[in-house]
Formats: sequence, C-alpha cells, structure tokens
Amino acid sequence: MIRSPLMNVMTSTAMKAGKGLRQDFSQIAALNISKKGPGDFVSQADKRAEATIFRELERARPDYCFVMEESGVVEGTDKTHRWHIDPLDGTTNFLHGIPIFAVSIALEREGQIVAGVVYNPITDDLYVAEKGAGAFHNNHRMRVSVCDDPRDALVGFGLPHIGKSGAALAIREMGAVMGRVGGLRRMGAAALDLASVANGQTDGFWERGLSSWDIAAGIVLVREAGGYVSDLKGGDSFLSTGNIVVGTESVHKELVSVLSKLD
Ligand code: IPD
Ligand code: CA
Ligand code: CA
Repeated sequence: MIRSPLMNVMTSTAMKAGKGLRQDFSQIAALNISKKGPGDFVSQADKRAEATIFRELERARPDYCFVMEESGVVEGTDKTHRWHIDPLDGTTNFLHGIPIFAVSIALEREGQIVAGVVYNPITDDLYVAEKGAGAFHNNHRMRVSVCDDPRDALVGFGLPHIGKSGAALAIREMGAVMGRVGGLRRMGAAALDLASVANGQTDGFWERGLSSWDIAAGIVLVREAGGYVSDLKGGDSFLSTGNIVVGTESVHKELVSVLSKLD
C-alpha cells in the first residue's frame, strides 16, 4: 500500500464521499417506486458527494485547481496542480440499483497525471496508484493480466447513451473488435473499466468521448500496473479527446490496430 501524505488525503476523501453514496444508494429501491422517481435524487447524491470531495481536498491543498464534473473548473493559485474529480462514475447503474459505480479522484501535476484513486463504496474495492510507486487494489499490488493473445482477451468498452452522437461508429467498432477478441463487456463506469484492466480482471478497454474526470485516475492505475494507454490512433491525445484504449501490451496493440482504421 502507498503511504504518502497525498495518497492518504485522496483515499480518505474518496472513502468519505463513498460513505454518503452508500447511504443514498440504499434508498434507491424505495425511490424507484415513488412518483417523482429517482432521477432528481441521484443528481443530488452526485452533488453531495462532490461537495464532500471539494471540501476535503480544498482543506488539505488550499492552492490547487479543480476540474469537477458537476461544478466545473475552480481555479486555485497553484496552476501546476489540478484535481480531476468524478464524484459518481456509473450514474446510470446507480439509478438502476446496480452496484457498479465509483468515486474517481486524480491529481495532475505540470500536465501529467501523477496519482489516482477509484473507490466502489458498495463492494469496498479501493484502487490506488501514484506515479513511480505502483498500483494497489485494497492492500495488494495490482498487475495487468498476462494475456498475450487477443483471442483470449476479455475487453471492456463504452457506448454513447441516447442524445450523444457516435452510435453508428460505436456499432462498427464493436463489430470489428468482436471478431478479434475473446469477449466484450459493457460495465457502465469508465473509472471501474480502467481499474479492472489494472487489476487483471479484464485485458483491455476502449471508449470515445470521455472526460478527464472519467479517465484520469484510471490512467495512472493502468500505467502503474504495467498496462498500455493511448488514444484510438496510438497517440497520446486521450486526456484532451477522451478517446482512450488501454490493455496489456498485445491486447492494446490489437485494439489500436482495429480501431485506428475506423472513424
Ligand atoms: C459515464 C460512465 C459510462 C460511460 C459514459 C460516462 P457518468 O460517466 O463512465 O461508463 O460510458 O460515457 O459519461 O455519467 O456515470 O459519470
Ligand atoms: Ca463519469
Ligand atoms: Ca459522474
């Protein structure tokens, strides 16, 4: 486990926000049958979790900048440090009572993501990584899988939801990758998709159009676990474009070779 002051701050913050989400999640089943429906409640849960994260991180590092899904950008005086925060990644799962969602917190220093924490408060799975210090799942060192044949690979991916463009392309990509790998999974929480690759449960993942708060923490998890990260063409624009491919060396290579030909 990494015991740096930075990791302690990030981990305790993610767990505090996660505690609130756990309480809110336990009320979702009741809300599903109420007249108003659970949509408003979930967006409140999201905002409450983000407020907890902002309060904790601002207290610990008062000068840092913030990029948050719900509240947007909050500039600090220290422009070399920037938090990327998704208080609830996997909102649709949360709303439907599916326990696959997480808090995601990452720190960017001078343009590089140097630390990430992803926490699922229902399963109590905590994934942490700091640049140069390795990646850990709970107290155990994480490594990507040993999968070196794409035909044995289990690969996660994301699809655009209703109202978002890119459905036709996503279907073509899915079709193309389906013929080259062992199996596909659509989990519904990008931060956990990335954590699963870092943890060796899945062997690769790709998605287009994500935001920095969805992927920043997961990127450092995958890299520190020995995995490969790029955009869909094999380049390094993933943080700005949100188009990302990760995996073991051979699975990443195969995914880039298929996906780079489509757009
Ligand atoms: C979403 C999830 C989902 C991905 C979407 C994201 P949210 O984040 O990560 O898996 O496919 O593109 O927006 O809205 O649940 O925080
Ligand atoms: Ca998200
Ligand atoms: Ca979110």
